[in-house]
Amino acid sequence: MILIGLAVLNILALNIATSRYASNRGKVQPDEPTRLEKNNAGEVDYDYNEIYNSFGTHGSYADRRISDFDSFGNYTSTAVLNGGCRLTVSIVDPRPPTSGINHPIWFALESVAAYVPYACVVFHTSSCKSMLQTQNMPAGPTDGQKVNAVAQSIYGRSLPLFRRMMERGLVRVNVLNSEKYGEKCDNFGSGNSIFLNIRFWLDEFIDGVDSDMILTTQQDAVLCRHLDIDLWKHYAYVGAPWSPWVWGCSQEQNCDCMRNLWRTNAPKCNGVENHLAEENILQICTPGHGGFQGNGGLSIRNRSWMIEALRRCPTQFSGLGTQEDVFFSTVLNAINATMPSAFEAALFSVCSTFAEQTFDIYYKLNSDEIADTVKRLWGNDTGMSVYNRIHQSNSSNRYTIPLGIHQLWNYGHAEHCQGVAPEGCTYALKEQPNIHEECKFLKYIYNFAEMQGGRLQ
Ligand SMILES: *[C@@H]1O[C@H](CO)[C@@H](O)[C@H](O)[C@H]1NC(C)=O
Ligand SMILES: *[C@@H]1O[C@H](CO)[C@@H](O)[C@H](O)[C@H]1NC(C)=O
Ligand SMILES: *[C@@H]1O[C@H](CO)[C@@H](O)[C@H](O)[C@H]1NC(C)=O
Ligand SMILES: *[C@@H]1O[C@H](CO)[C@@H](O)[C@H](O)[C@H]1NC(C)=O
Ligand SMILES: *[C@@H]1O[C@H](CO)[C@@H](O)[C@H](O)[C@H]1NC(C)=O
Repeated sequence: MILIGLAVLNILALNIATSRYASNRGKVQPDEPTRLEKNNAGEVDYDYNEIYNSFGTHGSYADRRISDFDSFGNYTSTAVLNGGCRLTVSIVDPRPPTSGINHPIWFALESVAAYVPYACVVFHTSSCKSMLQTQNMPAGPTDGQKVNAVAQSIYGRSLPLFRRMMERGLVRVNVLNSEKYGEKCDNFGSGNSIFLNIRFWLDEFIDGVDSDMILTTQQDAVLCRHLDIDLWKHYAYVGAPWSPWVWGCSQEQNCDCMRNLWRTNAPKCNGVENHLAEENILQICTPGHGGFQGNGGLSIRNRSWMIEALRRCPTQFSGLGTQEDVFFSTVLNAINATMPSAFEAALFSVCSTFAEQTFDIYYKLNSDEIADTVKRLWGNDTGMSVYNRIHQSNSSNRYTIPLGIHQLWNYGHAEHCQGVAPEGCTYALKEQPNIHEECKFLKYIYNFAEMQGGRLQ
């Protein structure tokens, strides 16, 4: 289902990496992009269909403004070095350095550059495959040579807005020591077990530079709209809400399922007394309290809370340890971290359950409560107007498209939905005519061919 770029073009892309500007990354403000178009709002906007269909030959790929990749171990933006990152985006994945032109990862990253342009981005990745692809590499490369090779590979295939972010010194490469995490260098996937290792949260971010708040994203996740992290940073952990069938629970059992999961495992956490856990867990799914949320693929996390959860509930004892997002969601609820309700989480992202569907599954809000929540999390000025646009532009638009989407398509199979939450499935996409208008990079990340006959319709 994931589209793999053409290997031949990968090599070409590396070879045409000539520089037209010899700038110091981050110190020189890049010129206006040469091949941009402006949309009605006067914003820089590229024709991504044209870029996609060019398979790497679009003029934007030749617009390269740096040739020196030695500094990618750190951010070099003066603003970041002086003031730190307002938000750090982390991509844990060994594959980006070898992902070809048009691979979904480049569109996922372009959505980051488009909608959190103020962020820092760190690749927690691997160099072992990109080293093989890069010519003239010495045997036994130094750490600096590894970072250089990875940065060059990523720069060559990136789309224009993300390439500008790299030029502005907002991107760094952290080649993970995979042995430290008990992983092979090229196959740690999207890092499930790495997220469950406390060393990751302690060691792989730069204190005083990377932000406490981390946005984790991956090659099958996309941002759809501007994300103002300041409106979300009081939460410990935010990911798309889950619907009951994800756990094999019926709709009625949903919250009890989650509570039972915790009751079984709570005694294995340090310093969490049962009554405290019980008190917090009972609040799940009640109005004003945490819903059942936390898909990890696209998520906002407070690093201090990640560390706290892993300290208090070491994963080898917790029994919840196989899926990192289930672990964090359950444990953070139990240790009284500040968590969003399912509806609030659904304004951030969707994987199986849209905002309106949380009303059927958890609890319903009245229209004033909806408006207050939308303004609080999407911003007063734009929040309601965006919400109204989504719902009024076409009466067949049923669901609120959140700020991001992760793997909605994975839940598209009828058997997952039968009898439980039939509306929680990908069928929602078909019933939502404006989904591509509201989330323009989605179609390059998910191949709709299976469902709707064609990716670029
Ligand atoms: C990042 O910068 C710090 C201080 O400026 C330096 O000590 C460190 O070696 C750099 N790290 C990398 C990976 O280049
Ligand atoms: C993250 O959580 C810690 C611990 O609760 C808290 O002190 C800190 O203020 C939080 N960070 C942000 C950015 O809110
Ligand atoms: C949980 O946190 C809230 C505030 O965030 C506080 O009022 C409450 O007392 C805490 N509950 C427990 C059991 O610690
Ligand atoms: C939105 O408006 C409310 C009420 O006027 C105010 O308290 C809040 O700070 C505003 N939020 C933002 C993000 O501007
Ligand atoms: C609503 O969406 C449908 C499906 O895309 C389209 O055929 C119809 O013209 C749209 N109606 C309006 C008023 O935009």
